Amino acid sequence: MSGPSTVLVTGGAGFIGSHACAELLDHGYELIVVDDYSNSTPQALARVERIAGRFAGAVYELDIRDRRSLSAVFDRHSVDAVVHFAAFKSVSASVQRPVEYYDANVGGTTALLRTMHEHGVHQLVYSSSCSVYGDAGTGPLDESTPARPTNPYAASKWTCEQILSDVCRRRPEYTVVCLRYFNPVGAHPSGLLGEDPCGVPDNLLPYVAQVAVGRHDRLRVFGTDYPTRDGTAIRDYIHVMDLVEAHRVALDHLADAPGMHVYNLGVGEGSSVLDVVTAFSAACGRRIPYEAAPRRPGDVAELVADARAVTRAWGWHPTRDLDAMCRDAWRFQRLNPQGYAGSARRTESER
Ligand code: NAD
Ligand code: WQD
Repeated sequence: MSGPSTVLVTGGAGFIGSHACAELLDHGYELIVVDDYSNSTPQALARVERIAGRFAGAVYELDIRDRRSLSAVFDRHSVDAVVHFAAFKSVSASVQRPVEYYDANVGGTTALLRTMHEHGVHQLVYSSSCSVYGDAGTGPLDESTPARPTNPYAASKWTCEQILSDVCRRRPEYTVVCLRYFNPVGAHPSGLLGEDPCGVPDNLLPYVAQVAVGRHDRLRVFGTDYPTRDGTAIRDYIHVMDLVEAHRVALDHLADAPGMHVYNLGVGEGSSVLDVVTAFSAACGRRIPYEAAPRRPGDVAELVADARAVTRAWGWHPTRDLDAMCRDAWRFQRLNPQGYAGSARRTESER
């Protein structure tokens, strides 16, 4: 570890946050986790503790918009840097409930920034999204691609980026690393941590995994008439373990230079929906039934990162391929067919 030693993680019980906690604990960081469990469960953090063999730090159940409670956490601990995952992330829900999304994502970020400022904490790693590029077109997108968010979720992420950029421009003591994730998938190789969405998954990989484990009959492939090599939409899937490794490396580089630094996190290669189905079938050893369905409103044909900037800056690049993403996602799903809640019940009855 060469970066800050005590890191506050917002949204640390969520899909990406829990993997980040495991990665940071494994590298000797002290962690303070805050989460309101609005889209997660404390069981994820119990699993993190099992993987790490320790929980160095503390966990607080709170909404980051509750500045009094958040401030008390900063009073209690000497925080060096913050990794900010806490947000609502469903594109479809954001279209239904835009104000809720702006309040959670933008209001959450400004509450966090005010509290950090009051406590003299000026180093932040921020979770942004490829969705800020909207329908920017085909071909790998680099970080200079103009943002064109097409839904309230993406707009809330872009608004936070603009706020952070403005703060960095006006306050030279701030360093912000803003990471634009493409499509994070996969799971911790232990099978203890993974993606456990509430309700029916919106996203491809968790849906395919639930088909494989028998929770749904078949996948509906949204759009088979795109101008792509097999007619299905292309995305840049990145293994969640690579993604969280990049956060650890980001912490190591926070001291390099003040200001705002924006990097794409993807592998720089596109996979179609049918590529994912084929890779997942190989991983689980059974055919994934699917049927063609109409395009999903708002989807674009192709979204692939030009992911070279982060490698130029830090010499880091992702190493896990689509087969590893599917293998690890399948292991989690196989061992936890009903997600964290189901496996916890099973474990209790086994005792
Ligand atoms: P997640 O929903 O699994 O995790 C978010 C966590 O934040 C949850 O544990 C939730 O309970 C918590 N949370 C939400 N609002 C909160 C609040 N006001 N106060 C305290 N805790 C709160 O989502 P994830 O997939 O782990 O995503 C993490 C971050 O990455 C989000 O900022 C998301 O926008 C961003 N992101 C995710 C993806 C993706 O496909 N998963 C892609 C790009 C960007
Ligand atoms: C991938 C492809 C679907 C489900 C979303 C957010 C984005 C970012 C990443 C947060 C698409 C197709 C899906 C299904 C299908 N998240 N599909 N059948 O839409 O690329 O990106 O997650 O920041 O903001 O929009 O990911 O996994 O939903 O879809 O055919 O049941 O799989 O149409 O082409 P997406 P996804």
